[in-house]
Formats: sequence, C-alpha cells, structure tokens
Amino acid sequence: MDGTLFVGGGGPDYSEKQQLLLGYANRHGLIAGATGTGKTVTLQILAEGFSAAGVPVFMADVKGDLSGLAKAGSPDSKLHEPFTSRAAKIGYDDYAYAAFPVTFWDLFGEQGHPVRTTVAEMGPLLLSRLLELSEAQEGILNVAFRVADEEGLPLLDLKDLQALLVWIGENREKLSLRFGNVAVASVGAIQRRLLVLENQGGAAFFGEPALALSDLMRTDTEGRGIINILAADKLMAAPRLYSTFLLWLLSELFEELPEVGDPEKPKLVFFFDEAHLLFDGAPKALVDKVEQVARLIRSKGVGVYFCTQNPADVPEDILGQLGNRVQHALRAFTAKDRKDLRLAAETYRDNPRFSTEQAIREVGTGEAVTSLLERKGIPGMVERTLIRPPASQLGPIEVSERKALMNTSALAGKYDHTLDRVSAYEILQKRAQQAAQEAARAEEVAEEQETSAREYNSARRYSGGRVTRSTSRAPKAPDTFGSAMTEAVIKELKGTTGRRIVRGILGGLFKGR
Ligand SMILES: Nc1ncnc2c1ncn2[C@@H]1O[C@H](COP(=O)(O)OP(=O)(O)OP(=O)(O)O)[C@@H](O)[C@H]1O
Ligand SMILES: [Mg+2]
Repeated sequence: MDGTLFVGGGGPDYSEKQQLLLGYANRHGLIAGATGTGKTVTLQILAEGFSAAGVPVFMADVKGDLSGLAKAGSPDSKLHEPFTSRAAKIGYDDYAYAAFPVTFWDLFGEQGHPVRTTVAEMGPLLLSRLLELSEAQEGILNVAFRVADEEGLPLLDLKDLQALLVWIGENREKLSLRFGNVAVASVGAIQRRLLVLENQGGAAFFGEPALALSDLMRTDTEGRGIINILAADKLMAAPRLYSTFLLWLLSELFEELPEVGDPEKPKLVFFFDEAHLLFDGAPKALVDKVEQVARLIRSKGVGVYFCTQNPADVPEDILGQLGNRVQHALRAFTAKDRKDLRLAAETYRDNPRFSTEQAIREVGTGEAVTSLLERKGIPGMVERTLIRPPASQLGPIEVSERKALMNTSALAGKYDHTLDRVSAYEILQKRAQQAAQEAARAEEVAEEQETSAREYNSARRYSGGRVTRSTSRAPKAPDTFGSAMTEAVIKELKGTTGRRIVRGILGGLFKGR
C-alpha cells in the first residue's frame, strides 16, 4: 500500500490492482464520463485514498452528494451487497466501511465555514472575468486597482470597490489625462455588474477574515488528510463566481506555497468539478494562464484533478498535462460525440488487449478506462478498471449531522464573523466628510472676509473695486488621500494589506499586473 492509492481492479478479470502512485499524484488528473457513469464515486474514493495517505484534499460539492465522506458506509444499506461483491471481485480484501475527516466550507456561509477573500487579492483580471466586463471596462478596473495602489486605499470588500469607482467617476477628467479616456458609461457599467454580483450573494465572499490557505492543508490527529468540501450546489447558480473562485484559490496556492520539487506525496489535491465552466467562453489569455498555473503548481506539490463530462471541454494544452486519468463511459449518439470519443481515445497509450475507443464506449457504471502514471512519470497503458467501492457513505449526510460537524470543527468560530477594517470605503467617506467640513469652514472664512471687506470699503470713498482682487485663501479641499488618512491607517497599509495590494511579480500571474 505504501506510496500508492488503490483505485480498482483491471486486467481481463478485474483482479489486477490499479494504483495511483502518490509520488506522481501532483502531475494532475482527469475524471471524465457521461452522466451517471460513476464520476462522483470515483471522486469520493480518490478523496478517501488521499486522506488515508495523509494528503489533504479540496473539492467542490456540486450536487451536494459528497458530504457522505464524513460518515462510514453501512452494512444495512441496500448498496452493501453490490459494494462487497465488487470488492471481492477486484481483490479488495481489506475493504471496510470508514468515515473520513471532513471540513465544510461555503461561500455563502450557510453549509460550512464562510470562505472569503479580498477584492485586492482577487485582482483585476479575475474580477473582470467574474463580472464579465468588456475590454474597455476591464481597462477602468485596472485604473481602479492602480489608483488604489498609489493612494493606499485597501480594497477589501465590494463596498470599497464601489466607493472607489464613485471617486473615479468624479475625478475622471483628471484621471483621463493620465490613463486615457475614463468613460463615465464604463464606470457605470462596472457598478451595475457589481450590483448583479451582490444580488447573487457575492458580497459575502469579499471581505475579511480572508481564508488562510493553511486551513485547507491540515491533517487530523491520526495523520489523515482533512477533506475540505466546498458547498457548491447554490454556487452553481452563479457559475462565474464558482469558476473564478476556484481559479483564485489555485493562483493563491501557487503564489503562497513554497517549491517542493517532486514530493513523495502531494501537499494538497484539488478537485475541480464541472471544469467546463472554467473554460466556457474563456478568453485565450485566461486559458493560457490556467495552463501556466497547472504547469507550475506541480512543483509546489499540488495535484489538480479536473472533473467534467466530456474531456473535449478541457483545452488541449491543459489536457496534455493531466497525467492520471479515469475515463468513464462516453456516449456516441451524434457525429460530434463520435469525433470527441475518437479524439479522447487517441490521447491514451493503447492496450493490445482491446480498442481504447470501444472500451470508452462500453465500460459499465463504476467502470472506467484508466491510465495512471508509472514510474518515471510515464503514462500507463490503458486498462479497463472496475473502480473500488467507497468506504464512506454514498450520498449526503443529514443536515443535522452536518451542523454538528461544523460546530465541533477545529475551525469553528474562526471565520464566522466578518471583520470590517478601515479600507477604501471608510477612507473615501472620511475624506468626503473632511472636504465638506473644510468647504463649510472656507465658506465661513470667505463670508467673514466679505463682511470685513464691505466694512473696509464702506469706510473708503472711491476704491471699492480693489478688494475683489484680494489674495485671500480660496476654499480648497485636500487633494491627496494622504491628508485624510490617519496615522493608524498608514500604519495598517505598511502591514499585510499594503503588502498584498502591491504584491509582486508572481502575483502578476492572475492579478494582471
Ligand atoms: N466505484 C463504484 N462502486 C460501486 N458502485 C458504483 C461505483 N461507481 C458508481 N457506482 C454506482 O453508480 C451510481 C452512479 O454513480 P455516480 O453518482 O458516481 O455517477 P456520476 O457520473 O457522478 O453521475 P452524475 O453525472 O449524475 O453526477 C452510484 O450511485 C453507485 O450506485
Ligand atoms: Mg456525479
């Protein structure tokens, strides 16, 4: 068992053990197949296997059926018989029901610990993608991030970005001189997109306390990897938020984790379910970046497993990097289906025993055409593999069981309450207040001067016009943010937030700077 993860049985009678080598598990993977062919169970048994090997896992639960990982399967289940006979068939002698350590997460904070990040960390590129901005609008967003950087305005939550955009609208003439046309229509369009995001519940996702990546990379007292399950059922209603969030998470992992070269097992395995959402209508620039992150994140010890119905959904450059593959059945109804099938089959190392293409069409439920990396990272010859049955419960746990796990989680309480620090919104608001106060004061001064001038003039006989050329101070609003910032805020900026805002070169991968 050492250094391997048992996937199922292959060979002519399904008795040959098919194993994923943990040392190559960071060379990414693919789980594909038509609906109802066994993808979710495969996801579940892989998560079990990684956890048992001490590897933490992150996965999104799109249909709400992965929470069963937290509970042992039961001999009373009607699946007990098919599961045990399958186990016997594949020579899975130590098959036993078991529960796994699970932490639940939820962008909306309902079915798990809230997951948040800051607007600054999301960066303009991903945010543009999230908001589906046009090129011109993306340009404005870049200006906004630049201005925030220069002026030391932390962009934490959506309120901050909204306030900054208002400010940009007000100062568009001055900004246009530096950055080119800052059209009020574009600013307005971004504001409307932000409203849509708010209506989808996206506001909850931006703010603090932001997710600490180390909280996704924990093991339990027995050394098992924690399986982090992100509730994604509701999130699926906002597919852009879903895919952008996962992409953000990948880029953060990439930025923050140290290089480890080729570890004996991954530091984290990341399952990207419904991966087609990531690539649907994605601009080439984004696909290139995903490709780049996938390529580079390997050496940080993170394995990324894309799950999708059709491997044709995954761009070729990325598909080429997915070394460990579990291909469940594909349908071949239409001409396009058949073409996709042929293309999918072509990417495998053939097994003389059968035709890959035919096997992909024929495999039964819970069976798959697998190709797992061999020593030296050589793609394994394809095998028809009967995937092992799960040790944990198939299907969701009860809401009450989930609540109980959330309450006793080691992270209970850590993320529950939002923290609203002084950031762009507050600074701009304060600045506006001060400007208003100063204007009022200036008005008073002007009034006083006018009165005294009138008195002076009336005391003289002929030279009433002169005083109007007075050099007295004109009402003047402070024109740097700095003047409105308190010491405390400046100090704050020198801390983590400031550092994050201007984060450097690798941050540029997704931050678009
Ligand atoms: N490895 C397996 N061992 C035992 N039974 C399995 C296995 N894989 C699949 N099954 C059976 O097949 C059913 C369907 O599998 P699963 O839910 O994984 O399909 P799916 O591809 O995720 O479908 P969908 O696209 O609808 O999500 C399971 O409920 C289970 O009964
Ligand atoms: Mg499924």
